[in-house]
Amino acid sequence: MSDQHSLFLPCPRGLEASLVAEMEQLASPTLQVREPVASGVPARGTLADVMLLNLHSRIASRVLLRMGRAAAAHADDVYRLALALPWERWFTPQQTLRVDVTAERGSTLPPQGAAARPVWRSSVESAQSANFPDSLLFAALRVKDGVCDHFRRLGQERPSVDRQNPDVRIHLHLGAADALLYLDTSGEALFKRGWRAEHGEAPLKENLAAGLVRLSGWTPQDVFFDPLCGAGTLAIEAAQSACRIASGLNRTFGFERLAGFDAALWEGLREAARAMHRDAPAPIIASDIDPRMVAIAQANARLAGVEDAIEFKQADVMDAQPPAVLAAGQAGHIVTNPPYAERIEAKGSEADEFLPRLGDVLKRRFAGWHAGLLLADVHADRALRLKPTRRHVVYNGPIEGRFFTFALVAGRPARRIGEVTPPAEPA
Ligand SMILES: C[S@@+](CC[C@H](N)C(=O)[O-])C[C@H]1O[C@@H](n2cnc3c(N)ncnc32)[C@H](O)[C@@H]1O
Repeated sequence: MSDQHSLFLPCPRGLEASLVAEMEQLASPTLQVREPVASGVPARGTLADVMLLNLHSRIASRVLLRMGRAAAAHADDVYRLALALPWERWFTPQQTLRVDVTAERGSTLPPQGAAARPVWRSSVESAQSANFPDSLLFAALRVKDGVCDHFRRLGQERPSVDRQNPDVRIHLHLGAADALLYLDTSGEALFKRGWRAEHGEAPLKENLAAGLVRLSGWTPQDVFFDPLCGAGTLAIEAAQSACRIASGLNRTFGFERLAGFDAALWEGLREAARAMHRDAPAPIIASDIDPRMVAIAQANARLAGVEDAIEFKQADVMDAQPPAVLAAGQAGHIVTNPPYAERIEAKGSEADEFLPRLGDVLKRRFAGWHAGLLLADVHADRALRLKPTRRHVVYNGPIEGRFFTFALVAGRPARRIGEVTPPAEPA
């Protein structure tokens, strides 16, 4: 349990620094957080750290435990890597497997003997996507073959594959010239918290929402308001962190099915997390023009254990007023995700009027408040007619967006500070 392992925590692009801050807040003496790379944070830690990260990280997509790394020019190289690794330390051949693959731009992995050709276009994509290149599916197959042959060489049976409900998930990541094999200790992705009853239109993933809440600068002592709440993801993530409800308290994890799983330690960590629960220290308000969305958001909040922490309303954002009086020293934060013109319609206004009218509402009625808006249009601040304090480049799945933050000052635009981009991709 005290052995140190190399870990990698993938996250939505643009949230790497926020994930580092979140990991450091865990204050585990055995967890060493490394410099982030594009779409994730490397670390070293014990299996207890693996449990803590899975239980508490709101921003990571998964916690991967590195099994091995090798130079890889051909799919046979990943076969040889998989064949050599000590899988029997972690699971038995009676358990079922699934292999997932991600690849960086430019990585290519033809069968031995075939000419290398560039097959990869998007930066990081998963094997479930419809346009996943055949060569990468083939690489996943070769990993599975290597794992099965490893057990055969030990005189044991071959594990079988179960794509729906595997006991063990293996993750292959192809860099430009190397291959990394990981055990996925999370199982289902961490953004699946277990509280989403219904989605509504265009919901944010929970870990992206949690990252935006953090980037907005809101703290649990401040008033939180999402006037375009949809399924309530932003308000629910804010409310769970205000109430100190660990994001992974109501779900299971892949590590629970791995050999040597310490159930007593895990129960102790969950118990300590439950003991942290408190009431939200400040108002959290969520509204939407669509009563159906308000009902969905409320149902989700109930499942997330924060229904009492959030005040829900049905309202047009164009009629919005500050929903609470700010106490001395308290800030007010609007954190929201207005409709993306190409994905979901703005209601109550023509699409091209929506952002200028919203900007006007913010400027005229929310002087002294802060606002953080996720928008797909990288120049949306022009349509809002507000000067951002920061523009964070973030990715909502494959869609590049901007999270603009504004310090709202009546009649006077805030000073522009600069654009924050994710760190460069690793060499
Ligand atoms: C992109 S969705 C928000 C998704 C949300 N962040 C989530 O994770 O589920 C935008 C929401 O704005 C709402 N909306 C559109 N026009 C509105 C208006 N004028 N006032 C209030 N809400 C509006 C839509 O009903 C929709 O739920």
